[in-house]
Amino acid sequence: LQTSSGPINTADSNEEYARVNWDELGFGVIPTDFMYVMKCSKEGDFLHGNLTPYGNIELSPSAGVLNYGQGLFEGLKAYRREDGGIQLFRVDQNALRMKMGAERLCMPSPSVDQFIHAVKQTVLANKRWVPPPGKGALYLRPMLLGTGAVLGLAPAPEYTFLIFAAPVGNYHKDQAALNLYVEDKLHRAIPGGTGGVKSITNYSPVFLPQSHAKAKGFSDVLFLDSVNGKYVEEITACNIFIVKDNVLSTPAIQGTILPGITRNSVIELATSFGYQVEERLIPVEDLLEADEAFCTGTAVIVNPIGSISYQGKRVEYRRGKGALAQKLYEAVVGIQTGLVEDNKGWTLQL
Ligand code: COI
Repeated sequence: LQTSSGPINTADSNEEYARVNWDELGFGVIPTDFMYVMKCSKEGDFLHGNLTPYGNIELSPSAGVLNYGQGLFEGLKAYRREDGGIQLFRVDQNALRMKMGAERLCMPSPSVDQFIHAVKQTVLANKRWVPPPGKGALYLRPMLLGTGAVLGLAPAPEYTFLIFAAPVGNYHKDQAALNLYVEDKLHRAIPGGTGGVKSITNYSPVFLPQSHAKAKGFSDVLFLDSVNGKYVEEITACNIFIVKDNVLSTPAIQGTILPGITRNSVIELATSFGYQVEERLIPVEDLLEADEAFCTGTAVIVNPIGSISYQGKRVEYRRGKGALAQKLYEAVVGIQTGLVEDNKGWTLQL
């Protein structure tokens, strides 16, 4: 991989903020000033990373990531606090998850310290793209890619760790409640596969069922387990929770579900609110009985689910925004943005 290089002046622009209409932010590509690139030596060590202007990268057509999908990504956010400081949320968890994924895909990975250092550098170099308080976040997209050329089926001989950034607002406009379609034919993950790590290959297979569901007027798809076709797994880009009385349930982590960092945070927070939290097998019928449902993820944060349709049956959740999803959303975003005291050590101030 080659990137354009040259002297980097991270103080290139002295403006406090980039020229962005902060009130109109959605979740899309907005090119920022710098990206971070760190290559792995032939011996498997990541040594020196650098900031480089954000731009296209050059890859061999034989790169492992292009031919065999040997790649992982992460997602995390940097928020601007009211006092002007910038903070990250549970970045160590992203670093650890990338390490787990790298083992599964036979890739070397940066150390936790290298990962955190690289994220910090990327945020500081793109500081003017961190939205004002209350307007969103700077989304960081760390990637670990098999960039070496390979033809026979094998791990790539070279790897690149790269982070780019983009300012984002809500993933779903106005955090609108989702109308989900339960997909009962196509699957996202299989036992023993890569559904439990953030492999790039987990994502494009959802496009077909998602496009079918969208064509029918649904907002997104919920997948079931591929063995029994009966237990709830996850939504295309986020985890799911259901609430019944005082019990909050979410599918257990068994290798086919992404161990979401927001998922984990919500489990801790809901427990502290007095909910009984169960990580378990959730038969699809339990959705139809629930009082409330919502999804969690770095991009979606905590987003309510308005309805779920399964084999012609439809359930509407009427609790709306006063419900647990809203309480958890405020708790998570409060800690992420510094409005609520972080007594869990989840934030890292830059
Ligand atoms: C995230 O929530 O950060 C994700 O990685 C999901 C992505 C498909 C937008």
